[in-house]
Amino acid sequence: MKILEKKTSLKGTLTVPGDKSISHRAVMFGSLAEGTTTIRGFLKGADCLSTIDCFRKMGIEIEETEEEIIVHGKGLHGLNAPTEILDVGNSGTTTRLISGILAGQNFSCTLSGDASLNSRPMKRIMTPLSMMNASVESIEGNNCAPLRITGHPLTAIHYDSPVASAQVKSCVLLAGLYADGVTSVTEPALSRDHTERMLRSFGANVISDGNKCSVTPPETLYGQNIVVPGDISSAAFFIVAGLITPGSEITIKNVGINDTRAGIIKVCQDMGADLTLFNEREEGGEPVADLLVRHSCLHATTVEGSIIPALIDELPVIALMACFAEGETIIRDAHELRVKESDRIELASTNLQAMGADVIPTNDGFIIHGGKPLHGATIDCKMDHRIAMTFAIAGMNAEGETVIPESDCVDVSYPAFWQQLESLQP
Ligand code: S3P
Repeated sequence: MKILEKKTSLKGTLTVPGDKSISHRAVMFGSLAEGTTTIRGFLKGADCLSTIDCFRKMGIEIEETEEEIIVHGKGLHGLNAPTEILDVGNSGTTTRLISGILAGQNFSCTLSGDASLNSRPMKRIMTPLSMMNASVESIEGNNCAPLRITGHPLTAIHYDSPVASAQVKSCVLLAGLYADGVTSVTEPALSRDHTERMLRSFGANVISDGNKCSVTPPETLYGQNIVVPGDISSAAFFIVAGLITPGSEITIKNVGINDTRAGIIKVCQDMGADLTLFNEREEGGEPVADLLVRHSCLHATTVEGSIIPALIDELPVIALMACFAEGETIIRDAHELRVKESDRIELASTNLQAMGADVIPTNDGFIIHGGKPLHGATIDCKMDHRIAMTFAIAGMNAEGETVIPESDCVDVSYPAFWQQLESLQP
């Protein structure tokens, strides 16, 4: 449990942990590659550790040192049938991406996670994988995990995805590694492209053209040395903390600013934020920068359309930021937020309302009238890491005490969160 109180003048410099999406992919592709893959900056959060655990259960040797993860890949056809259920924990990324890989193996296995994971929609991957001739069964018959996956020789397809989801796109592309020709995916808006970038660096022929991408099944993937940039989805909490907490000035180093992820920067700029990017560079095939944020007088904005996938995980904390901006902020086209680790539209709204904010949840977003002062409340975060972190920042900008009973759930993506938050306080 954590108790937060009103603060001013958050000051300091921090380096956020490695990107969660990129960390997962590095372990997965390293396992399927020939030779050794070293991963620096790997996020040792519970989600990525679930991915490591699954591949170990399929016979991949993975070493962990202080500085790096070393994956001893066994090639595209080197996985062994696991002798027990693959436990995917809370991780949607592990589940959906690994399902694409499992669809192309010559064994059957079962995937299952925690209560939240086992209630998230899996039809979105069952549909394209069945089109490719894989067998993916929802054991309870509710289109959710536990899933029983039986690998088969796969047929290449073009999949016109109804949803802008990198997990769906990646699942299909990874199954495409094992298909009998070129597999392609079109999505309604471009979602994060880490799979495409990293598969290319491992030697696969992946072609991107607007919202479409395709993969040719490679003979071999080759082990790489990967440097994982800091996670902008983790930086988001400190960006918003710096902008809304009076007197603050925070430097956040080594943040991944890939266009398919950096929607929050554009939204902050649209709202009048004092946010500067410097030391822009490329690391491990991904653009990276340091950020400087200072307390700012924010004004309302509208967040909608094709930018949504580039900030989907940041929307709860963007909703909080809008409570501190003058005027009416509208967030729409974000229906996907309802099927994350929790229903984040519902949960962010209820908790913000409990703190006195003027927030109306809509079917696909929020309407927020900024400027109402917040007061402390007890936060029900339903074990959702991003809701817990959002309300830590809210609590530091509210009168009285804010209590977060399930504060440990931040370990899913950001084990050092509380410690780093503490380090900024005067
Ligand atoms: C992720 C994709 C997004 C995101 C999730 C990580 C990924 O999910 O919300 O935290 O690593 O591919 P969707 O693909 O469901 O949008």
